[in-house]
Order: sequence, then C-alpha cells, then structure tokens
Amino acid sequence: MKKNKKNFLVTGGTGFIGSNICELLINKNHNVKILDNNFRGNIKKIKKIKKKIKFIKGDIRNRKLLNKSLRNTDAVIHLAYINGTKYFYTKPILVIDIAIKGIINVIEACIKNKVKELYLASSSEVYQTPNKIPTDESEPLKIPDIFNPRYSYGGGKILTELMGINYGRKYFKKLIIFRPHNVYGADMGKEHVIPEFINRFRSLKGKNFKIQGSGNEVRSFIYIEDFLQAFNLILEKGKHLNIYNIGTSEKTKIKDLAHKLSKILKKKINIKKISLAKGGTKIRVPNINKIKKLGFKPGFNLDKGLKKILAGK
Ligand SMILES: NC(=O)c1ccc[n+]([C@@H]2O[C@H](COP(=O)([O-])OP(=O)(O)OC[C@H]3O[C@@H](n4cnc5c(N)ncnc54)[C@H](O)[C@@H]3O)[C@@H](O)[C@H]2O)c1
Repeated sequence: MKKNKKNFLVTGGTGFIGSNICELLINKNHNVKILDNNFRGNIKKIKKIKKKIKFIKGDIRNRKLLNKSLRNTDAVIHLAYINGTKYFYTKPILVIDIAIKGIINVIEACIKNKVKELYLASSSEVYQTPNKIPTDESEPLKIPDIFNPRYSYGGGKILTELMGINYGRKYFKKLIIFRPHNVYGADMGKEHVIPEFINRFRSLKGKNFKIQGSGNEVRSFIYIEDFLQAFNLILEKGKHLNIYNIGTSEKTKIKDLAHKLSKILKKKINIKKISLAKGGTKIRVPNINKIKKLGFKPGFNLDKGLKKILAGK
C-alpha cells in the first residue's frame, strides 16, 4: 500500500460538505467509504467519484451497521447530522436523537475497531450569542434557553464535542473538532440562507423581498473551495485534541447579501422585514487566526463565490 494512503469512513458523505470532502480524499488517493441514509444527502452529489468509493446506505443510529462499516478503517470523519435551520424548530427530537446516538455509536465503533483518528464536525452554533466578536475557539459554549427547540442543534454539537474531547484523551491518537461557519457552494440544499435567497430571487414576482430580522444581522460566509483548503490543512497539520474554526473574517449584513444578489441577478427589490426566528443570533464572525497558523489563505470573497455558484460551479 502506498505510504500515507488511508482508509477513511465519512458519515454524512453524500451531503453538501461530505460529498466535497470525499472528492478531496479521492484526489489525495485515499480509500473512501461513505455511510449516509440520504435524509438530505444524495448519491448524485458524488457522481464524479461514485466508482471509486464504497457507499453504504444506512442510519448512523444503527450500531451494528456502523460497527461493520468501520472494519479496516484508519480514520473517521463524522458529519452525519440534521442540518438546516427549519429542522431545528420542526424536528428537534430527530436532531437530538441523531446527534447523541450518532456520536455515541461513532465513538464506540471506533474504539471497538481500533480507529485512532476521528474528525468531528461541530458548528458555529455552539457559540450562540458570543461574548467576543470575532469569536475564537476559547469562547464559552452555551444553550441560552433550554426550552427553545432551535438549540437541539447547537446542544447536540456541544455534546458531540464533550464526548469527543473526553474519549479522545484516552482512546485516540488524533481527535480533532472543526467548527464550520456558514459554508456555501453549489448544490447545498435549499435550507441555507444563500440558496434560499437565490431560489426566491429566481421566482420573484414584483419587488418585495422578505428577510428575517432587521437586515443588519451579520454573518461570515465561506465558499466551499476555501472550506476544503482549511479542512485539508486540518487533515495534514491539525493537532490532537484541538478545535479549529473554519470560516472567513469578511462580515456581511444579510440585507447586503440581498442587495448583492439583486445586482448580480439584475432584479430590483424592496426589502420587507419580518421577525427573526427565536434564538437566531445577530452577529456571527469567527476569529480564524488558529487555522491561518496552519497556512489557511482564503481565496474567495463573497462576490467571487456568489458568481461561481450562480454559474452552477
Ligand atoms: N454547511 C454549513 O455551513 C455547516 C455549518 C456548521 C456545521 N456544519 C456541519 O457540517 C456537517 C455537514 O453539513 P452539510 O452542510 O454538509 O449538511 P448536509 O445536510 O448536506 O449533510 C449531512 C448529511 O448527513 C446525513 N444524515 C442525516 N441524518 C443521518 C443519519 N441518521 N444517518 C446517516 N446519515 C445521516 C444526511 O443525509 C446528509 O447527507 C454537519 O454535521 C453540519 O452540522 C455545516
């Protein structure tokens, strides 16, 4: 076997980020298996690499299947999760069930199969409303209101991190947590703000364009190619029991995102404000010094990334 060639298992590998990570791994000449139940993923997303990977259709909550899937595996990238804000409010039990049973099963199956490398996807949602902007990895994690179903998502990610760190100390050689901040790209599902806006622009009749909140809410969006550059650095140089934000420092007000799209798509709009979903945060911008120290250099600002996804790339 070629030096450094590894056997990876990617949970959630037919999803937006997962399919892109699998392509990266194949390009790096690794062996790749995917476990996904296609709740939001789709085999079409991996059509370019389909022949080179092994796809196992199944649920992360199925311990037996997970155990079997992890035989002869060197490293696991655990992404399977219910993503998409609307589900946090409408399907909180499913979100928390997959979060908790997922991480317990992944860790148990890794220990059983002696897998020593584990990469866990967390999220910027673990910071909720952070004390510091830009927010670095030492920010305290919180659940501001236990009764708000939205926090099924962030709460599940906090538990994922807690399990990861504590088991990581004893059972793994390399356990790394990464916290993506608003990744976007083509084919990412309609539940995220950028594709949701683009879809509404495309079917817009008249000028009224609804946005949640005041429009002054701030996010930092990272284009998928930049995300992959950062993730690759974590694979190659990331340190055991470390946490890395993945994002950019470019701040974008949601109303400016709407205006940018209006300009690119040549559709004039009047912004209509509607109330912000309960628990949504006003500003989220990561401090990315830690990933920059590994060599990360973002290559896309929002204009460049938007043009690329509008061109279907
Ligand atoms: N996209 C972002 O901006 C972003 C931001 C922060 C964190 N994340 C995290 O990154 C990871 C990937 O996100 P994504 O944007 O690709 O989302 P996605 O929904 O496209 O991918 C998640 C994948 O998990 C699969 N899945 C869901 N439940 C499953 C189950 N029970 N068993 C097996 N597979 C299951 C889905 O079918 C899907 O393919 C997730 O853990 C997500 O929480 C993403």
